[in-house]
Amino acid sequence: MAQVLAICGSLRKGSFNRQLMNASIGLAPEGMTIKEAPSFAKYPIYNFDDQQATGVPKDIEALNDAIKAADGVLIVSPEYNWSIPAGLKNAIDWISRCKEVSFKDKPVCIQSAAPGLLGGSRMQYHLRMALQAIDAQLFGKPEVIVNMAASKFADGKLTDQGAIDLIKQQLGAFNKFIARVTVR
Ligand SMILES: Cc1cc2nc3c(=O)[nH]c(=O)nc-3n(C[C@H](O)[C@H](O)[C@H](O)COP(=O)(O)O)c2cc1C
Repeated sequence: MAQVLAICGSLRKGSFNRQLMNASIGLAPEGMTIKEAPSFAKYPIYNFDDQQATGVPKDIEALNDAIKAADGVLIVSPEYNWSIPAGLKNAIDWISRCKEVSFKDKPVCIQSAAPGLLGGSRMQYHLRMALQAIDAQLFGKPEVIVNMAASKFADGKLTDQGAIDLIKQQLGAFNKFIARVTVR
């Protein structure tokens, strides 16, 4: 059974990406369970001086440990100004300074949702680059990019059948990817 940790890049209450993440948790294939990671909302902005003075904060070490313990990570995030939202990038930067960097060799799958036409795809590209820098194992295709999000969610739920089918395909393929790349 693959245990996947899901990280949402949005802190917004009515977040489309949180709804997408919740849909994915419910659509996990047989042989995979997905649980939500603790929030990174309260992390201080990374500063090398602070790290030297007091070390990596405990809650960030806790997220690093949770990633370490998981078989894979699913990151579901919006795009801010064509890139990674600051809170998510800050969490990645902190984790990259942990003694044992949990993302190293960790299978990672990405999803995004946005009201616009490109659905957060530019964020996905930047996130791939940042995670490559810390040696994550990035899952390729199919990509889940939920564009025109306002028309694809209703009452807090993903309603678009095309997106639902794509998530099922992606998570099924991600499950096989985890089995293929994981050295036990
Ligand atoms: C600071 C900021 C920057 C944004 N930049 C982009 C962008 O570059 N591309 C895009 O598709 N949407 C952009 N948006 C719109 C978001 O896609 C939209 O607010 C979306 O609902 C955020 O995701 P969430 O619903 O999960 O919070 C931006 C929104 C904010 C607040």
